[in-house]
Amino acid sequence: MDTTQKRKKLFSAIQPSGMPTLGNYLGALKNWSKMCNEFDSAFAVADLHAITVRQEPAKLRRQTLEMYALLLAVGLDPKENIIFVQSQVPQHSQLSWILNCYTQFGEMSRMTQFKDKSATHADNINVGLFAYPALMAADILLYQADFVPVGVDQKQHLELTRDVATRFNGLYGNTFTVPEPYIGKQGAKIMSLQEPERKMSKSDANVKSYVSILDTPDVIMKKFKSAVTDSQACVSYGEGKDGVNNLMGIYSCCTGLDYETIQRDFEGKGYGDFKVAVAESVIAELAPVQEKYAQLMADKAYLNQCANDGAKQASAIAQRTLTKAMKKVGFYQGK
Ligand code: TYM
Repeated sequence: MDTTQKRKKLFSAIQPSGMPTLGNYLGALKNWSKMCNEFDSAFAVADLHAITVRQEPAKLRRQTLEMYALLLAVGLDPKENIIFVQSQVPQHSQLSWILNCYTQFGEMSRMTQFKDKSATHADNINVGLFAYPALMAADILLYQADFVPVGVDQKQHLELTRDVATRFNGLYGNTFTVPEPYIGKQGAKIMSLQEPERKMSKSDANVKSYVSILDTPDVIMKKFKSAVTDSQACVSYGEGKDGVNNLMGIYSCCTGLDYETIQRDFEGKGYGDFKVAVAESVIAELAPVQEKYAQLMADKAYLNQCANDGAKQASAIAQRTLTKAMKKVGFYQGK
């Protein structure tokens, strides 16, 4: 019996738009490394998505390799999983064009990320920024993914992917697996340390608002010590306590402790003690990732080899789905 047939498929991706934050790590990367061996998994560095906002070419190239190294550093294994750079697999762009033609203008216009990014990049509201979710749908559907581990901010794009896949299947018969988002119970929306009502983001102008995966222990400690909390001085989860709620979420993800235990452990203690404990748990969580990352970045030939191999493997799978979709829509086959 071919047991590989029975394995469910997992796909996810991350943009190389800067060193990922603790939010990317707890919301996505950590889940990828926990789940990758249970499924047939493919992960991409989404550089095609990154050029929807202006990038400096040399910097984009460097960040792409760094992000690739980081995926290995968090525990993804290129021998077990397919790990690749999106622009090296042309089928993503090809299927994305097809899916553009099966996605309505009205649907795209409702995407909150497009609205947000149009506001922050008002001088460059390009068509790619608008059509971005169709490319994301292509990424996922090419691999016939059953599950897509993401943070909360990607949920709307996943819903659109499901709608487009269902529409295409309805018109032409079963072509794409309709994927489900996998959103962790905790860590799916890590908030800014300075404005805890906003998402932690690597593009935030205020560096104190986010922890980068490669921040040194000193920097991590400083950032948590200056995290915004409230005036209640009570470590507990509740309404109007966005800052403390966020710190509790981070601490829970890094230690595995539930909220009740955390509350009990810090009863009668101030926020100062709690912030130090949260920082220490983050430092301990990131230390092995940072160590592995440094080793990997010292061997660029190995990284290039892995990326090239990953692209070949991805391309073979992607081509099967693309060919199927091209036939369904009626493209000339040359015979
Ligand atoms: P990106 O690069 O912005 O983020 C990568 C992943 O990190 C999650 N994330 C967070 N999770 C918790 N708290 C936060 N503060 C936080 N910030 C980011 C994101 O939800 C994401 O899972 N469009 C995608 C990349 C992409 C993709 C795909 C994802 C391209 N194609 C196909 C899934 C499937 C993006 O920009 O993620």
